[in-house]
Amino acid sequence: MSKLLIFVTCLVVVFADDLPTNYEYYTSGGILTGLSADQPYFQLNGKNITIISGAFHYFRVHPMYWRDRLRKIRAAGLNTVETYVPWNLHEPYYGVYDFGSGGSDFEEFLDVAKFVKMAQEEDLFVLLRPGPYICSEWEFGGLPSWLLGIPNLKLRTNDVVYLKHVAQYFHALFTIIAPLQFTNGGPIIAFQVENEYGNTWNHDPDYLRSLVQIFRNNDINELLYTSDPLLDVGDQGALPGELLITANFNKNASGNLNKLNELQSNKSSMAMEYWSGWFDHITENHTDNLVPVERYKSVLEDILKYPASVNIYMFIGSTNWGFTNGAGDGTYGLNNSGLSPSVTSYDYDGPVTEQGQLTAKYNATVELISKYVTVKTRLPEVPETPEAVVYDDVKIQEQILLSEIIDSFPNKIKSPSVMPMEQLSINPNNSGQNFGYIVYRKTHLNLLPNALLKINGYVRDHVLVLLNGKLVNSMLTKLNDLDGFGYWRLLDSTITLTKEPLINATLDLIVENMSRNNFGLINQFQQFKGLIDDVYIDNNTVYNWEIIPLEFKKSWNKNLTGWHNVKDSSFGPALYRVSFNASSPLRDTYINVQDWNMGIAIINGFVLGRIFSVGPQQALYLPAGLLEEGVNEIIIFEHFMAPEYLKFSKEHIWGYGSNIQA
Ligand SMILES: *[C@@H]1O[C@H](CO)[C@@H](O)[C@H](O)[C@H]1NC(C)=O
Ligand SMILES: *[C@@H]1O[C@H](CO)[C@@H](O)[C@H](O)[C@H]1NC(C)=O
Ligand SMILES: *[C@@H]1O[C@H](CO)[C@@H](O)[C@H](O)[C@H]1NC(C)=O
Ligand SMILES: *[C@@H]1O[C@H](CO)[C@@H](O)[C@H](O)[C@H]1NC(C)=O
Ligand SMILES: *[C@@H]1O[C@H](CO)[C@@H](O)[C@H](O)[C@H]1NC(C)=O
Ligand SMILES: *[C@@H]1O[C@H](CO)[C@@H](O)[C@H](O)[C@H]1NC(C)=O
Ligand SMILES: *[C@@H]1O[C@H](CO)[C@@H](O)[C@H](O)[C@H]1NC(C)=O
Ligand SMILES: *[C@@H]1O[C@H](CO)[C@@H](O)[C@H](O)[C@H]1NC(C)=O
Ligand SMILES: *[C@@H]1O[C@H](CO)[C@@H](O)[C@H](O)[C@H]1NC(C)=O
Ligand SMILES: *[C@@H]1O[C@H](CO)[C@@H](O)[C@H](O)[C@H]1NC(C)=O
Ligand SMILES: *[C@@H]1O[C@H](CO)[C@@H](O)[C@H](O)[C@H]1NC(C)=O
Ligand SMILES: *[C@@H]1O[C@H](CO)[C@@H](O)[C@H](O)[C@H]1NC(C)=O
Repeated sequence: MSKLLIFVTCLVVVFADDLPTNYEYYTSGGILTGLSADQPYFQLNGKNITIISGAFHYFRVHPMYWRDRLRKIRAAGLNTVETYVPWNLHEPYYGVYDFGSGGSDFEEFLDVAKFVKMAQEEDLFVLLRPGPYICSEWEFGGLPSWLLGIPNLKLRTNDVVYLKHVAQYFHALFTIIAPLQFTNGGPIIAFQVENEYGNTWNHDPDYLRSLVQIFRNNDINELLYTSDPLLDVGDQGALPGELLITANFNKNASGNLNKLNELQSNKSSMAMEYWSGWFDHITENHTDNLVPVERYKSVLEDILKYPASVNIYMFIGSTNWGFTNGAGDGTYGLNNSGLSPSVTSYDYDGPVTEQGQLTAKYNATVELISKYVTVKTRLPEVPETPEAVVYDDVKIQEQILLSEIIDSFPNKIKSPSVMPMEQLSINPNNSGQNFGYIVYRKTHLNLLPNALLKINGYVRDHVLVLLNGKLVNSMLTKLNDLDGFGYWRLLDSTITLTKEPLINATLDLIVENMSRNNFGLINQFQQFKGLIDDVYIDNNTVYNWEIIPLEFKKSWNKNLTGWHNVKDSSFGPALYRVSFNASSPLRDTYINVQDWNMGIAIINGFVLGRIFSVGPQQALYLPAGLLEEGVNEIIIFEHFMAPEYLKFSKEHIWGYGSNIQA
């Protein structure tokens, strides 16, 4: 019996070994040319190729799983992986770079060269989309927030100061990337220039040409292309005749690809973003954003039949760690009322989940590739995905009130008026505040009965008001509380601070930046955060503030002192700490946040994600790579009221939190 089994296994292996690898097929005999789109089908090194690519963003997946996920892409029969490159993580402060050892909190996620090389080791080609703007439902579309601190700089235009910063960053990035191009023996076969520039409706071919020049000046020699939703914007974001145009869509493949061929005849056709599923904004119903496998499969089949190449976006679900989620909505630029932040999960309902499990869309993809792709190459086995574990509930015993942190915060910044985060003179090269919350404190206030606080304009994006350390806001309990005081939708909001007169009072305005827009018209990229307009008490402007940036950096989170027992009935913003033991082999888990209201969760110092009871996300994926053998520490910053226990979950939980009514 066992002999027979071995025999059968050997047969299979021998058969599979007969097929060339992807690289053997395309590069045996040497590399003479890169990717060409100058005929109605792609050629790589002179051989026909249908690019079947999967989107997988290295910065959204713990590096412990990079190889697992790349192998799952290859095992499905894909020959290419696509990734964006986020400028705001790689240059967190002006002139300060992190490509894997730069010391930022994201350091371990940022070794882009290692990722690209690993893709080659896993027999995949790479499509690289370095921006500078990447959209991607990522905070500010990947633009660094410190750009907003530069007066009059015009983002995503031919503005010389903006282009100077792009050129400096691209020089740093491309120094690492250029050796990894296909014609230099690496895996990168093509680069995208900008991203859906047509959606800005700021038709500016000179800007795109300036970017092309920066690519070429840095020895980027492979094929360059643009990508846009062509049925909406046509060639507004393209350079027809100069750069290959590609199409983004999730339905009507033939309508979209015909449009592509109208805009450029006789070139290779490619869907650069074929959306496999969708993402969630806060307050949305998760089920409304799911895409049935039948629809996914039929449109993918239409693309392959056309025939066209495709990048399945996303192939691998992933995570908007910490404060990195983007936001949507057209009215956002000058008017915050339409803000619609994305949630922490970027699962995307694609072929592979955030936790790495294969879905029915994975199988559908395998089936269609074997049916339509004629070049047969050797594929690896699909790696196993271990199940997640559920740790025991942990009683919450330790607490620090936010007011205690504010009181003891060293080096409070003095300022005559409130100012946005971006304009604080903190961090290297005065880059301003990069993440988190900002507190505006006013001391020695003498208040009349019924003193009225008024915040002019829109709050960016959520404000908690403390008077002598006590929370004045009411608890978030129902969806339409978001239309009331404290949230981004309300213009010129007011709240009564005190019924009784008070002398020598201390007022704190704690403002949470819930993310910047990642999408839209060119004038929607001026997005300051915090308070940008005047604050009044009883019609008098309040001057002379102390400003406290709460960035929640890893070193700071790990160094917090002053933990005490949870105080009874402590309503208001506070940090809660629990620890639990994890043993080897470390496994993924989820933090169940159904019983919490609003805030963030921190694991071993790293900000994992946001908590928002109005949903839809009610569990935060916690990959094994962020755990340690032995004791692990979770801190939750809660704005209103904490439950008694911290709980875990074996899987995602979608819906509203247990404290919220629809
Ligand atoms: C399309 O390209 C092919 C070969 O690359 C060429 O023979 C043909 O003339 C081209 N057709 C048009 C309309 O340009
Ligand atoms: C490449 O593809 C084109 C279009 O399908 C086909 O006409 C041509 O014969 C192919 N070349 C090779 C070498 O298979
Ligand atoms: C500040 O920016 C300059 C580039 O102008 C850079 O050389 C320097 O390393 C940056 N960082 C610090 C901490 O000064
Ligand atoms: C597909 O797109 C084409 C081009 O815009 C349009 O004419 C056609 O009606 C669309 N078909 C469907 C089913 O939406
Ligand atoms: C979400 O949508 C689904 C289907 O449309 C519906 O069954 C469910 O009740 C909705 N849930 C909420 C919380 O609105
Ligand atoms: C605003 O929030 C986003 C998302 O949390 C973050 O990435 C960005 O750096 C923040 N900007 C500032 C200036 O704090
Ligand atoms: C902000 O935008 C919303 C939606 O477009 C609009 O209803 C509101 O009037 C705008 N507010 C201001 C102050 O312009
Ligand atoms: C995918 O196919 C495999 C084997 O071919 C099967 O075991 C698995 O259940 C399928 N998965 C789904 C989600 O259909
Ligand atoms: C006013 O309050 C502060 C604390 O904010 C305290 O240190 C100070 O002694 C008080 N001054 C008076 C006159 O009560
Ligand atoms: C503030 O101004 C409004 C409108 O001018 C006025 O009705 C109100 O009485 C003023 N409040 C105080 C406390 O002066
Ligand atoms: C840690 O805390 C101590 C005092 O509590 C402080 O002196 C030190 O600067 C802190 N370190 C960091 C990295 O925040
Ligand atoms: C973790 O394990 C250590 C030793 O194995 C033990 O002393 C400690 O109490 C455990 N902590 C928790 C939170 O279970």
